[in-house]
Amino acid sequence: MNKLTVRDLAAEQLRGKRALVRVDFNVPLDAGRHITDDTRIRAAIPTLELLLDRGARVVLLSHLGRPKGKPESKYSLQPVDKPLAELLPNRTVSFVESTDSDEALKATNELKPGEVVLLENTRFLGGEETNDERLSRALAELGDLYVNDAFGAAHRAHASTEGVAKHLSPAVAGLLMEKEINYLHDALENPKRPFVAVLGGSKISGKIDVIEALLPKVDALLVGGAMACTFYKAMGLETGKSLVEADRVELAKSLLEKAGTRLILPHDATVAPSIEQGSSARAVGRDALPPDQAMLDIGPRTAESYARAIASAKTVLWNGPMGVFETPPFDKGTRAIAESMATATGQGATTIVGGGDSAAAVEQAGLADKMSHVSTGGGASLEFLEGKTLPGLAALTDK
Ligand code: 3PG
Repeated sequence: MNKLTVRDLAAEQLRGKRALVRVDFNVPLDAGRHITDDTRIRAAIPTLELLLDRGARVVLLSHLGRPKGKPESKYSLQPVDKPLAELLPNRTVSFVESTDSDEALKATNELKPGEVVLLENTRFLGGEETNDERLSRALAELGDLYVNDAFGAAHRAHASTEGVAKHLSPAVAGLLMEKEINYLHDALENPKRPFVAVLGGSKISGKIDVIEALLPKVDALLVGGAMACTFYKAMGLETGKSLVEADRVELAKSLLEKAGTRLILPHDATVAPSIEQGSSARAVGRDALPPDQAMLDIGPRTAESYARAIASAKTVLWNGPMGVFETPPFDKGTRAIAESMATATGQGATTIVGGGDSAAAVEQAGLADKMSHVSTGGGASLEFLEGKTLPGLAALTDK
């Protein structure tokens, strides 16, 4: 990576200094505001431990959810305070209910080396998402140096991810940011072959750029999820009640023409009259989708052939589920991908799971630790794979 990272900093650049660390603690919460998946908190710990071990005073910034620039208690970061403290045993972790305030500034100044303060949700501040200059400067007052470890938010040019980096020096990447970028970069630029990408999800519209960016690089691009149906429509096939993006059919046609044999669509589909009618699910060939049914998963023949392609690959990149994986029996295709990727990892392949739904599916299958890398960023990893610049990364100090 061509950016400075926390590992490049000398001891005296950290000892006693306030490290302002942007993390992505945008974690899922249940109705009682309990964290249901702490992956993103755990993923930030190595960077925090490194900074604390070297005597830094750590100030944490994060967003949670999508509040509209003002405080809303349901988006408070307060529920993160305790689990964070548990993951940093023997450290003092405190929470301050504001961010751009005298109270927050005072808390950062009173921190002792080895201590951590978590400030309130940056999206409670009007200027966060507009990348406001005044706010960026105010946030910069909260630290002596800046660390961005929020890979999941690196595609956002916000005050706490981009603007602030211009006012603090050095501005460096955290260990998680570095690891995420290295995995994705190496897969794209220097893959061990065969290189197989698996793309799923319901809509082709969100995946067009990534399909176009990946096609010249991969040996095979396996498509699943309802987005396969927009391709089916483009091929003139019956799609029944399946989700089809009518306004993308022409585009699907041109992608098919450009892609040649590398773009592979499911040969069969698991269909049912609706998601609720899983007991009537059955497999049909892709040219036999009944008019009164919807494709809700790839079919068993496809799952088998995709699994074979994955098991013989040396690099596998996966983004997006193959079907409605939250609702059995429509989870089988997604599970087959997760299992074959686990097998491929065991055979020495590099296996990378994009964030979001595919990361959740791998967690649900209990296979997360069988992957080379499970990304913590859904949108961010997609934008990186599309070849876009991530503003949160671009703003950091060059090596
Ligand atoms: C995510 O969950 O993908 C990141 O935390 C970014 O959140 P956002 O899509 O609300 O900007």
